[in-house]
Amino acid sequence: MKTMIPILTTRAGKLYQGDCLEMLAQIDPETVDLAFADPPFNLGKEYASKIDDALAEEHYLAWCESWLLEMVRVLKPGGTLMLWSLPKWNLPLGAFLRKRLTFRHWIAVDIKYSLPISGRLYPSHYSLLYYIKGTKPAIFHPDRLPIACCRHCGGELKDYGGYKNKMNPSGVNISDVWTDIPPVRHAKYKKRDANALSLKLMDRIVSMSTDPGSLVLDPFGGSGTTYVAAELAGRRWIGSELECSSIIERFDSLEADREHIEEIWAQKNRLFTDADLKRRAKSGRPLSQDYRIEDPKETETNACLCDAVARE
Ligand SMILES: C[S@@+](CC[C@H](N)C(=O)[O-])C[C@H]1O[C@@H](n2cnc3c(N)ncnc32)[C@H](O)[C@@H]1O
Repeated sequence: MKTMIPILTTRAGKLYQGDCLEMLAQIDPETVDLAFADPPFNLGKEYASKIDDALAEEHYLAWCESWLLEMVRVLKPGGTLMLWSLPKWNLPLGAFLRKRLTFRHWIAVDIKYSLPISGRLYPSHYSLLYYIKGTKPAIFHPDRLPIACCRHCGGELKDYGGYKNKMNPSGVNISDVWTDIPPVRHAKYKKRDANALSLKLMDRIVSMSTDPGSLVLDPFGGSGTTYVAAELAGRRWIGSELECSSIIERFDSLEADREHIEEIWAQKNRLFTDADLKRRAKSGRPLSQDYRIEDPKETETNACLCDAVARE
């Protein structure tokens, strides 16, 4: 097989223009810490790379299995494999992976991805499958999230089972339902590919399963969100894409992404976001430094009273 030459080499990563199976074949076994994939979903969409996105179901699944096998091969023992897809595809692909890796989570990421169709439920979550090679993850440091607060009064939207006085000052344990991932519609990123994932999502995945210097693999580059998240967090990365121009353009000026990821870092692993702290200060609620309230009666008064308005 012909050796591929990277079309882009950065401080931390290498991007190959071409078929992912060719790029994957060049990676040594058991060298990758995090293998992430966000493949085309076979929904008949048009891609800049002009791929056929309307394959027969068996053909599509067989293709997915071929690159998943390669991802499993290159994963280190204890390494993480995450697959972003529609529930429809992650159900059979999850069963395929389960024979080779250890299942950890089906993470539901609450983003509406299609219009309501009569006679069906409104599709409102993507599936993020999380597997590891072997029985124990080599790296696992999930982000902690700020407490969910009312955007009117800053009061807590949940009562945390009356254990507020035991809240970790670094924030709330993350669950397997993620409701805080915004759709990619930021003014700064208007011209970006409609398939681009949010930088917040990719930062969360990269921080959870890698350390500085770890190697991140993504065979489906798209607009390069995985690579940007890895590069800016000091991880090494390797990837492929059939049509690389938007990734190259993105890496030509990383300033907007750098600013964006710094905002993301500033708002995680803490009890309250800056915006919620402002609202809480205005409505006289306890702030981060004096949040561990011992008196349960006092705790009750912190809950949001806006109720229905707050939950809109
Ligand atoms: C859903 S997009 C990925 C989006 C990416 N996660 C992002 O945040 O921008 C899937 C990408 O896979 C690319 N692709 C499809 N088939 C491929 C193949 N065989 N090898 C490499 N890339 C491929 C498509 O061109 C498309 O850009």
